[in-house]
Amino acid sequence: MPQQPQLPPIPKGGKIKHALSLGLDIWNNLDRFQDEYGDSFTLTLPGQGPMVWTGDPAVVRDIFSLKPEQYDPFAVQIPIDVGEECVLFQNFKKHQDSRKRIIPSLATAQLKNRAGVMHEIISEHIDSWQVGQEFDFPRVVGDITLDIICYTLFGLRHGARKEHYKMLMNGWLSTSTNDTMFTIGQLMGARKFRAKLNAKYIKRCEQDKLGNLKKGILPWKQSLDYKVQLAKMIREDVNDIRARMDENEATLLSVFARAKYDDGEFLEMEKIISETIAMLVAGHETSAATSSWMLIWLLKTPRAMQKVRDEVAESVAKLGEYDPLTISELPYITACLNESQRLSPSAPATVRWLTEDTQLGKWLMPAGTCVAPCMYLTQRRKDVFGEDAHEYRPERWLDGSCKPKPWEFFPFGGGRRACAGMAQARQQLRIILAEIVRRVTFESNEDYIHNDQLPTPRLVGGQTEPKDGVLVTVKEVKPVTAGLPEMRRSA
Ligand code: HEM
Repeated sequence: MPQQPQLPPIPKGGKIKHALSLGLDIWNNLDRFQDEYGDSFTLTLPGQGPMVWTGDPAVVRDIFSLKPEQYDPFAVQIPIDVGEECVLFQNFKKHQDSRKRIIPSLATAQLKNRAGVMHEIISEHIDSWQVGQEFDFPRVVGDITLDIICYTLFGLRHGARKEHYKMLMNGWLSTSTNDTMFTIGQLMGARKFRAKLNAKYIKRCEQDKLGNLKKGILPWKQSLDYKVQLAKMIREDVNDIRARMDENEATLLSVFARAKYDDGEFLEMEKIISETIAMLVAGHETSAATSSWMLIWLLKTPRAMQKVRDEVAESVAKLGEYDPLTISELPYITACLNESQRLSPSAPATVRWLTEDTQLGKWLMPAGTCVAPCMYLTQRRKDVFGEDAHEYRPERWLDGSCKPKPWEFFPFGGGRRACAGMAQARQQLRIILAEIVRRVTFESNEDYIHNDQLPTPRLVGGQTEPKDGVLVTVKEVKPVTAGLPEMRRSA
């Protein structure tokens, strides 16, 4: 008899309880579900069909091998109006074409040029920090990564236009990803909500109604204002780039603006706006959350913090200069990043919506199921990472004991939809953290820094961040020339 499609076990409690278990204390609840129901279990959530979470590498491997016709990216439950014409929602040739435009801009050759600018940006931020100043680390890194995004997308480093872009991007992100918008999106269904917001946005653009960026009676009013104004700036820049048609311009916006379809037509303006905004959504909160977790682990593990400091100091002394590209490839800081992303991945899971009944590991999952390869559960498995799998031990990445397969360690997702910005993200995080550790000493009174717990995570724009931020106080700031030979200092 042919096998009937079957969902993995459904934990007790209904939709609301399942949604709360993800919203309130996601990691503890995932651990609990795995202990009680096995490596794969099904959550039922308001506004969507069954969602199967899996920490089973065999299932994850099959999910990452899915063919484009076996899943529907458009069904993704992102309740944010990114625009429908971007890499996040496309499939088949359109998806491949988008990736072909994006990846070269965010990979090797461009990264070499960008490393120096990334270092300049982080240096400027550190120079403005004062001893005794207290701040919330995820927000500070969020500000730094926005500067990097402004440069990557628009080539802007300083000036009024850059500050205006940054203000609009920040405003749009915070007003589009707040709890109210997510709750409405969940109740209405993310896809329907996105379409509703997009229709309003297009209407406002046609009427050239820019809005005043202030709160209104309707909860989406402010986010619409920000998007309409942001899109207007992008349109102006695209027109300028097309007027110049300078092949040497390497910003991501210029790649989108100059790109043409096979029939020789330029990409539509709304598609470019959608692709540009997708980069912002994909790159911002992810980087801020990942760096916060990495700093937490380093503060909790002074031995690892000191090793990073020594490794960076040694590189500076050996080269006679601070070379951000070399720094971003140093083995110990890379191991610290891997270990942090293994234990506290910013994205708890990635998702695929099945369009047909599909065999995944031992399960024949029914069409319509959302399958979620769960980084958090898979990357803490003792049968893959050893008995000390729950401990932060960066050395495991260096002593040959840790060589996970792409379906056992996947903080950037996997298969044909793996993160298009991975190379840039990993580079920028290492440059940011290395320079902070080299020049700045922090103190933190957070309890979790001094015991063996982690802070409770909360979901911000689909990313897990420490619930109450990471409050740190600056104890010391060294000058940018610290550790450089005398000659370089005077230069
Ligand atoms: C530490 C930072 C980051 C993390 C942890 C991260 C993680 C992820 C994950 C988990 C996915 C989904 C992959 C899948 O479904 O299999 C993804 C997709 C994506 N990310 Fe990242 N990301 C980061 C930074 C960035 C940056 C800086 C950019 C660009 C500037 C970027 C661009 C993208 C794009 C375009 C996609 C969609 C790929 C597609 O659908 O084909 N990401 N990322």
